[in-house]
Amino acid sequence: MPTMFISGITRGIGRETAFLCARQGWTVYGCGRDATLLAEINRVALDQGLSLRAFRMDVTSEEERERSMAWLLQETKGEGVDVLVNNAGYQELAPVEDLTLEGWRRQFETNVFGMLAVTQALLPTMRARKQGRIINLSSVAGRVGFPLYGAYCASKHAVEGMTDALRMEVRPFGIQVVLVEPGPIVSNINVTGYANLARNRPHATAYAGLYDAGPAKLEGIEKRSLPTRLVAETIVRAATVKHPRQRYRVTRTATLALVARLFLPGRLTDRILGGSI
Ligand SMILES: NC(=O)c1ccc[n+]([C@@H]2O[C@H](COP(=O)([O-])OP(=O)(O)OC[C@H]3O[C@@H](n4cnc5c(N)ncnc54)[C@H](OP(=O)(O)O)[C@@H]3O)[C@@H](O)[C@H]2O)c1
Repeated sequence: MPTMFISGITRGIGRETAFLCARQGWTVYGCGRDATLLAEINRVALDQGLSLRAFRMDVTSEEERERSMAWLLQETKGEGVDVLVNNAGYQELAPVEDLTLEGWRRQFETNVFGMLAVTQALLPTMRARKQGRIINLSSVAGRVGFPLYGAYCASKHAVEGMTDALRMEVRPFGIQVVLVEPGPIVSNINVTGYANLARNRPHATAYAGLYDAGPAKLEGIEKRSLPTRLVAETIVRAATVKHPRQRYRVTRTATLALVARLFLPGRLTDRILGGSI
């Protein structure tokens, strides 16, 4: 059975995908930072006889990446993995003007540079074997923008551009590159995102209304959110079909937002995505 590495398997989409693939017989490796959850995953995998190994790696740490990727290569006898799922990500929410440059950089360190560095570490073995698949978690936020999500949307737009370029560059080496673009999914991402929003609020702000509307907005997102299983199944499809699509959108909300941006007048779309309609 093929091997897979997933970044960010302690929670949400990554965790669901790791267990789904391991239960289908894949050998799955995955990373995260939460030591308790990593240990729990290894315990469950052992109990259930799954070939699933969770280990600590912060995708933003060069030292941790080098150590873990070297271990992974050793563990796979120098072969690397068949499928890389770049999933680790989070939301640094705040109005564009209020988020400090440090906050903007933090967002890009995980969602863009972390993804890039893991990809660069695992590509050479894929190229050498002339096969492999890379699945990058983007978002509907990689196709459209909305208030409070400026840094997150910018990071996912960067993921989209980087992935398009990579797809064309590595095709001659037999490597396929896929984007998965979910809409709202039940996970921990909103909890951390809205905690970050509260942390990022300065004492004086011109955007008090946006911050104050946060909890209602969160409630609306949670109502529309669908189970992680939908994305995990999409990732399995993208990892296994002979000719994967370039992009897999997940949820109707994601499709509607994109259709609105592409086909409705800009001002009307801004009012819809901005939440005033
Ligand atoms: N949920 C949605 O509505 C949604 C929609 C569109 C796209 N997405 C994308 O889907 C991906 C997964 O999100 P999710 O919803 O499953 O979020 P989640 O429940 O918050 O899970 C995020 C995972 O990423 C890991 N992670 C975060 N920062 C990391 C770092 N620096 N190094 C290593 N691991 C890190 C977390 O583990 P630790 O905390 O243990 O490090 C956790 O396992 C993200 O790329 C997100 O942007 C989600």
